Amino acid sequence: MKILGIETSCDETAAAVVENGAKILSSVVASSAEMHAKTGGVIPEAAARAQVVSVLPVLQEALAEAKCEMEEIDVIATTVGPGLVGSLLVGVETAKTLAYLYQKPIVPVNHLLAHIYANWLGGPAPEFPAIALVVSGGHTDLVLMKTHGKLEWIGGTRDDAAGEAFDKSARLLGLAYPGGPAIAATAEKFEFPNSNFKLKLFPRPMIDEPNFDFSFSGLKTAVLRATQDKNLGISREQMAAELQEAIVDVLVTKTLRAVWEFKPKSLLLAGGVSANERLREAFESKIKHLKLKVNFRVPAPNLCTDNAGYIAACAYFCHFPVAWESLETKPDLGINGQV
Ligand code: KG4
Ligand code: ZN
Repeated sequence: MKILGIETSCDETAAAVVENGAKILSSVVASSAEMHAKTGGVIPEAAARAQVVSVLPVLQEALAEAKCEMEEIDVIATTVGPGLVGSLLVGVETAKTLAYLYQKPIVPVNHLLAHIYANWLGGPAPEFPAIALVVSGGHTDLVLMKTHGKLEWIGGTRDDAAGEAFDKSARLLGLAYPGGPAIAATAEKFEFPNSNFKLKLFPRPMIDEPNFDFSFSGLKTAVLRATQDKNLGISREQMAAELQEAIVDVLVTKTLRAVWEFKPKSLLLAGGVSANERLREAFESKIKHLKLKVNFRVPAPNLCTDNAGYIAACAYFCHFPVAWESLETKPDLGINGQV
């Protein structure tokens, strides 16, 4: 079965053709991040206008790359939420038009759940039960997946998402949007004074609390205070490394505690922040150190950040077609499907 995925929930315009939920025949992503780098963050109206311009060329390129005509597509899948309403509308209205024109079934997809399905692309399917950590620009959620479509939310952020902590702190440090890759690249340049040196400047919020919740807004304040403290004498490289380490430490510790408690067969990372090298490395080494028997999976970095491949994969495994007339945007959709 060939599914055409469409993704326009934030500042990317993406289309992909995926076969049987796992084989990527094409994946095209146009990003307006460069435009937002100038303003230090996404301006929703500007993002949606850029998507109106790029959605048809991106679709055409995805079909051409997959050597596929619209007639050969079995199902159209599109993100309905969560996301920026103007941006979501571009994808949803495009999908509805195509569904009406070519008489294809249409599948509404939850963007957060879909992120997890990047782990089904291009490799053997992960085994259930699974614990999934979704760390994106706007969300941080920890869920127990019993099977496709059976999700138990076990924790999440009480304030900012991990990606937001990266993006906002990068701004405070004078680094460009998106902040995650900029912080990671700056942290990379930090030279440790000696092999015993530990990155301990910032707090690890909620790390010892007996729950699976997170809080990242205080870290942003800690970065702000550190940048204002003239006596601290810490380089931007160290500040970036300290912040990255604090976020990684909390994410890894609390997620592995969930692995310890629920004993899943797989641990799946997903969302833009899971492209972070230090996070991937820290999970691997701590799983090894603790001798946890779990199959750790993280998608290739280009599949962690927004793309339409996982939208199509998610539609294949766990969503059902609806009449195109009833398709609506759901900007506040949660990972469990509640608005
Ligand atoms: O999943 P995503 O592409 O879009 C949303 O659904 O939000 O996630 C974007 C987030 C941004 O906050 C960005 O700074 C972060 O992912 N990100 C990273 C890295 N690449 C992207 N954070 C840390 N390290 C990275 N390498
Ligand atoms: Zn995303």
